Amino acid sequence: MSAKKDNKKMKLKDIYWLAVEIGMEADPRGRESIEILLNKEKKEYEELPDEEKPFFDEESLKNPYADTRILWGDPETEIEGVLAGIDIEIGEILLADRLNEKGSSKINLLLAHHPEGRSLAQMHQVMYMQADIWKKFGVPINIGDFLIEKRAREVQQRLMPINHNRSVDGARLLGLNYMTVHTPGDNLVSRFVQRMMDEKEPKTVGDVLKELRKVEEYAQAAKQGFGPQILVGSPATRVGKIFVDMTGGTEGPKEVIEKLAQAGVGTLVQMHLSEKLKKEAEEAHINVVIAGHVSSDAIGLNLFLDKLEARGLKNIVPASGLIRVRRKSGIKE
Ligand SMILES: [Fe+2]
Repeated sequence: MSAKKDNKKMKLKDIYWLAVEIGMEADPRGRESIEILLNKEKKEYEELPDEEKPFFDEESLKNPYADTRILWGDPETEIEGVLAGIDIEIGEILLADRLNEKGSSKINLLLAHHPEGRSLAQMHQVMYMQADIWKKFGVPINIGDFLIEKRAREVQQRLMPINHNRSVDGARLLGLNYMTVHTPGDNLVSRFVQRMMDEKEPKTVGDVLKELRKVEEYAQAAKQGFGPQILVGSPATRVGKIFVDMTGGTEGPKEVIEKLAQAGVGTLVQMHLSEKLKKEAEEAHINVVIAGHVSSDAIGLNLFLDKLEARGLKNIVPASGLIRVRRKSGIKE
């Protein structure tokens, strides 16, 4: 669809389904695996007793990303302007309302990267894709399935006490549409950075840092003191096989680090990593480069926002850690 052909304003539902579509297109599991999963969901739904059906998340029949949802608003609403950011919570919601009140912004959609509301409560569901990604790097699927099951349950439990709908209530009270685009954005940045590493073939960990700093979001972060860093290894250490591990909900289990090392991975490029996993990496002699959390998320969101702009939605106000960087279509993402 070209911008010229489409003079109509994008609706909330168009933005949502575009996010799902782009997420699937960039998904490391490949389209076929996702279709199998969606069919499994359908079967599960059909087999549910009637009294259970109202509690089933029907969006999951078409959208494989539990962390990507419209949280508030009528899907038919035409979108005039977007406040886009990494975290959109009460503060940013009030900010959007202030900007509107001051007169210039016409924001009627809050577009968050990090999940909120129901998309946060069920974020652990996207983590199962990690087993498929590890398989691509040589970890047997039985080991992957076993490890991710335990870790996803741990994350689910961690998310239970949260006041999930706090920010959704804010959007509702101020009459602003609200949605999250999490894993589709992370799929985009994962593919972008992995392709870059595969093409440039950095030889040492220091070379990885240099390549990352050529990306505008990372360069800007580096100039402000939160750029790419070496967490395990040294600038002169050779990289071996590079695994850009930036999608799948949140951090995986510590046990997988050793399995990845055994499968031949030499360097992990991460958004961030906990102390527990860092220790595992040191023991397994795997290098770890931290590209940066918010800057990596910003790349994913920017790649998505480029698609919205190409469809005529130009009024995008970046906030909450997002520096807007545009990439021309045709450039590999
Ligand atoms: Fe993130």
